[in-house]
Amino acid sequence: MPKKYYITSPLYYVNSKPHIGHSYTQVACDTVARFLRQNERDVFFMTGTDEHGEKIEKAALGSGLKEGEEQKFVDGIVPVFKDLWARLNIKYDYFIRTTDDYHIQTVRAVLDNLYKLGKIYKKDYKGWFCTPCETFWTQTQSPDGICPDCKRPLEKLDESNYFLKTSEHQKWLIDYINNNPDFIKPNFRKNEILGFLNNEELMDLCITRPKSRMSWGIEVPFDKDYVTYVWFDALINYISGAGYPHDMKRFSRLWPADTHVIGKDILRHHAVYWIIMLRSLGLELPKTIFAHGWWVIKGEKMSKSKGNAVDPIDIISRFGVDPYRYFLLREVQFGMDGTFSEEALVSRYNSDLANDIGNLLSRTLTMAEKYFSGAVPDVSNIKIADPAAEEISSKVVNTAQEMVKLIPNFDFSAALAKIWEVIGLANKYIENSKPWVLAKEGKQEELALVIYTLLEALRIIAIEIYSFMPETSEKMLAQLGVSQGADRAFSDAKIWGKLAKGSKVSKLGSLFPRIVTKA
Ligand code: ME8
Ligand code: MG
Repeated sequence: MPKKYYITSPLYYVNSKPHIGHSYTQVACDTVARFLRQNERDVFFMTGTDEHGEKIEKAALGSGLKEGEEQKFVDGIVPVFKDLWARLNIKYDYFIRTTDDYHIQTVRAVLDNLYKLGKIYKKDYKGWFCTPCETFWTQTQSPDGICPDCKRPLEKLDESNYFLKTSEHQKWLIDYINNNPDFIKPNFRKNEILGFLNNEELMDLCITRPKSRMSWGIEVPFDKDYVTYVWFDALINYISGAGYPHDMKRFSRLWPADTHVIGKDILRHHAVYWIIMLRSLGLELPKTIFAHGWWVIKGEKMSKSKGNAVDPIDIISRFGVDPYRYFLLREVQFGMDGTFSEEALVSRYNSDLANDIGNLLSRTLTMAEKYFSGAVPDVSNIKIADPAAEEISSKVVNTAQEMVKLIPNFDFSAALAKIWEVIGLANKYIENSKPWVLAKEGKQEELALVIYTLLEALRIIAIEIYSFMPETSEKMLAQLGVSQGADRAFSDAKIWGKLAKGSKVSKLGSLFPRIVTKA
């Protein structure tokens, strides 16, 4: 039985359409999911939408709908998310909506359960609330009434609400994080959470809103005057979507999640509040929470509510899906912030894609057609020592093995850099071995070895880039005459030498035509 791997993305708010930031998390999750499927893991990748709360209600009312018509609004936006994921080749296994009936039932069951266990109580709440972040803040956290996260003015709240006892969890959570080095990644984010837990007293979490203020949410089962706080509702998706408690057989196979992938903006909700919710329910904890950085534009976080968002549809319709996926994962180390600009994208495109990989494929296929009529040369009886060829074959095999460590650790840019080292070596190999001279001088065996080495390296490179650029991978394999798909294991050391002699390769046009920019 292949080992399961349960990976989740955040559930995105449907107050407006997705931007580059959301697509970033999706591409990262999809790349890990594809890679692990390729390496025979039983992957369950779940994504979806966060549809309740004040922010969504405001958007619904702002669109001209009336109170009570919020469902109509969210039903209209969800397809926009799904369409973008389809265009980006995001291959998720399950899509959850917080307005799904079974999810609503799960949230109510969880509330009931915790209430009966005495872990939820009612009291007056006086403090701050940030609507765009859907987050409560205390006076100490925000002495000036400005949101510590998004720097926008906060709303003052004074109302009765239900609270989840969280303060009693502070001590064990600190110990748990210290004892489980893979629990919060990257390491510097783990230290941030530890700094917070060590220096600030955890306040009990407010988990409701009175209907008199805001009614677009899941009604609290033990008090019909309240709806559930949107974060409490949304976090539960990770278990409700996995079957809790309606399909416990499925749930026990999937839970605990292997990785929650999120942006750093919502780390505290996941690494503190979600964990305390799970612990209160007596459920196991996720193995890893990975918080990536932000795409920034002119020094500010790209955000729906700030109105500085770049539309991924516009970018992919001009540059293509795979170059976009490649750029997101290559340009910055996963975990760090990055500045998005079209110039940077075009520059990556022209150098790494058009020049490096595109040219390597096209030159190699041209030579295979010219010197071997497009048939893969037979090298089985050639006994020439060619150290440069050996370096390429060992490097490309080694890269596959390295990827098995790098990708599950979300080290995308390092994995791509390694693949591009091989591509660089192969391009240099063409220049140094000068196949056109070998052909002129009638050195048939040397020439066969060069062309075979290049074709076989390209076949393995195509398999290695599959999880990043699935369409490009398939296009390359088709030109290399490899009929089976790239979605299969490749980490074994015997990967080299599988390209069948005599099989036909054929050039089908350029992978990445150069982008000419106006000066
Ligand atoms: O927070 N750079 O939803 P959300 C990188 N519904 N990633 C970004 C980004 C940026 N500029 N902007 C957004 C919510 N993201 C809640 C989550 S989970 C139970 C509930 C990505 O629509 C990143 O993954 O605001 C971030 O965490 C997420 O979108 C927030 O999306
Ligand atoms: Mg947000």
